[in-house]
Amino acid sequence: MAKSNGKTALVTGSTDGVGREVALRLGRDGWRLLVHGRDRERGKEVVAAIEKAGGAAEFIAADLSALAEVRRLSDAVQQTTRRLDLLINNAGIGSGGPQGARQESADGYELRFAVNYLSGFLLARLLLPLIKKSAPARIVNVSSLGQQAIDFADVMLTHDYSGMRAYRQSKLAQILFTIDLAAELAGTGVTVNTLHPATFMNTTMVRQFGTPMSTVEEGADAIMRLAVSREMEGKTGLYFNGQREAEADAQAYDAAARQKLKALSVELAGLKTTTTG
Ligand SMILES: NC(=O)c1ccc[n+]([C@@H]2O[C@H](COP(=O)([O-])OP(=O)(O)OC[C@H]3O[C@@H](n4cnc5c(N)ncnc54)[C@H](OP(=O)(O)O)[C@@H]3O)[C@@H](O)[C@H]2O)c1
Repeated sequence: MAKSNGKTALVTGSTDGVGREVALRLGRDGWRLLVHGRDRERGKEVVAAIEKAGGAAEFIAADLSALAEVRRLSDAVQQTTRRLDLLINNAGIGSGGPQGARQESADGYELRFAVNYLSGFLLARLLLPLIKKSAPARIVNVSSLGQQAIDFADVMLTHDYSGMRAYRQSKLAQILFTIDLAAELAGTGVTVNTLHPATFMNTTMVRQFGTPMSTVEEGADAIMRLAVSREMEGKTGLYFNGQREAEADAQAYDAAARQKLKALSVELAGLKTTTTG
């Protein structure tokens, strides 16, 4: 039976894939889990598996393609727990394959930018007061090796759309956000890091259009290291390729680009500038 460690984690996109594996592991390690996704049946199944292993978990459904749902998720989290020691922004959608057409979120934004990046940006910002109160605490943004510089003249990819480009710019946006947030959180006891978990893990996303080359266990090992390991204590603002600290696309280290993305994200997410410091 898992002995409670008194800590609570929210793992977005933990109804499937690598997020599910990470949630199960945290549950076994004594964390109270807030399991998230859209699919209620799979959500209930993950909760049941955690409970069966002696852990504690609840499922919160929210569709991250609508900012109103992100706000609702944040409200539900704050009603459910008085502390949040770990937030893993893991939920995501793939490229949609070579024939994939451009899609928009409920708010009219390019869908991959909205689901893979903007929802996690807003969720982290809304939950920051709770996370700061729980320090030492960690945020992990699950990005990817697939990265492409954001074209600030056409962030919503209205020209020359490709699903791969959309996926890659959304994944790089997560890295820019991580570096920016880490600097903002210096001295608060909250660290934020990002990673490429593993290449072509055997998940729904990969099986849709490609051939798996690695396992969710491998990806979960890398995520768990950033989420709970002793060696990551106090380390922040870093990008990892699996277990190795690595360099992301050059745009991640361009302070002006990060500032532009932050200002745009605050505006798109409907946040007041005063809340961003
Ligand atoms: N697979 C890889 O090889 C690989 C490589 C690099 C990075 N990554 C990253 O790893 C993360 C997890 O990927 P995965 O391969 O484990 O994917 P997956 O098996 O397809 O699982 C994706 C998860 O995200 C959730 N999700 C998707 N769209 C959502 C939405 N609109 N609202 C709420 N939840 C949503 C899904 O929940 P529901 O099904 O319940 O909606 C599911 O739990 C992603 O951020 C991905 O970009 C994966």
